[in-house]
Amino acid sequence: MKLQNANVLITGGASGIGKIMGRIALEKGAKSLIIWDVNQEALETTAAELSTRGRVYIYKVDITNSELVAQTYEQVKQDCGCVDILINCAGIVRGNKTFDQQTEQDIRLTFEVNTIAPMMITRLILPDMLRRNRGHICNIASAGGMLGNPRMSVYGASKWAAIGWSDSVRIELQEMKSNVHVTTVAPYFINTGMFNGVKSPLLPIQQPEPTAKKILRAIERNTIFRGIPFGLHFIRFWQAILPIRLFDFVFGTVFGVYHAMDHFTGRK
Ligand SMILES: NC(=O)c1ccc[n+]([C@@H]2O[C@H](COP(=O)([O-])OP(=O)(O)OC[C@H]3O[C@@H](n4cnc5c(N)ncnc54)[C@H](O)[C@@H]3O)[C@@H](O)[C@H]2O)c1
Repeated sequence: MKLQNANVLITGGASGIGKIMGRIALEKGAKSLIIWDVNQEALETTAAELSTRGRVYIYKVDITNSELVAQTYEQVKQDCGCVDILINCAGIVRGNKTFDQQTEQDIRLTFEVNTIAPMMITRLILPDMLRRNRGHICNIASAGGMLGNPRMSVYGASKWAAIGWSDSVRIELQEMKSNVHVTTVAPYFINTGMFNGVKSPLLPIQQPEPTAKKILRAIERNTIFRGIPFGLHFIRFWQAILPIRLFDFVFGTVFGVYHAMDHFTGRK
């Protein structure tokens, strides 16, 4: 769906690629940019920076709170009308512990933010999109949702689940012959601060601005799945044809992916 004249809602849009996508959406003529984020200070800074480029509506909302999310959606409809494009972008990662050291609280929170919240928000907004037969839902998952990776088992699991859910909804809508579309995005590490400290000796860490542009282009082209970089599209092919231990050796040892998280510090 074209961004021009669209009401674009971005969760987690006060930071990282969400914030950049918001700016570019306005530059491409979006009717309004609606940002849901838990960080009030970042919301205000973002609104101050972007409001010269178009209409920006900010809402402080913890997306794990379904009741607050529902109230906020009603408010959005009053303030700027129906949402045309929903980008489920908010996400978290909790440390680089091996699974035996994970706390129940971190496991639950990671799934609440990365997996359950996008489902709940979509469940809330999708009926209006179906009624209007107009809309686009973009779910930002991760390359971590396509292959096992030590020290990010919980984050990876939350994104595997997000990919499975997102693509299933895409097929449901296709079978309904609906004009509502779904794009699932799986980026490799991006230099936003979320994964500070990761090392990737052979596969390049992605830059936020081009990543944001690629995601918006995927939405405008109704792309079903976008790996970033494009080479990620072949992960499943290599998984299918290589014996698992050989796959581990190539991706884990040669490309160094299985040690990427060793020096992770995350955002301070
Ligand atoms: N940065 C990477 O290396 C990378 C790689 C692959 C996928 N991703 C995914 O891309 C998305 C964006 O990543 P980013 O690097 O821009 O992250 P970021 O940390 O810069 O931004 C995430 C935003 O989500 C918000 N947020 C977190 N919890 C929230 C909650 N409960 N309610 C509302 N807002 C909340 C934060 O306040 C923040 O503004 C995430 O889903 C992430 O998992 C990131």
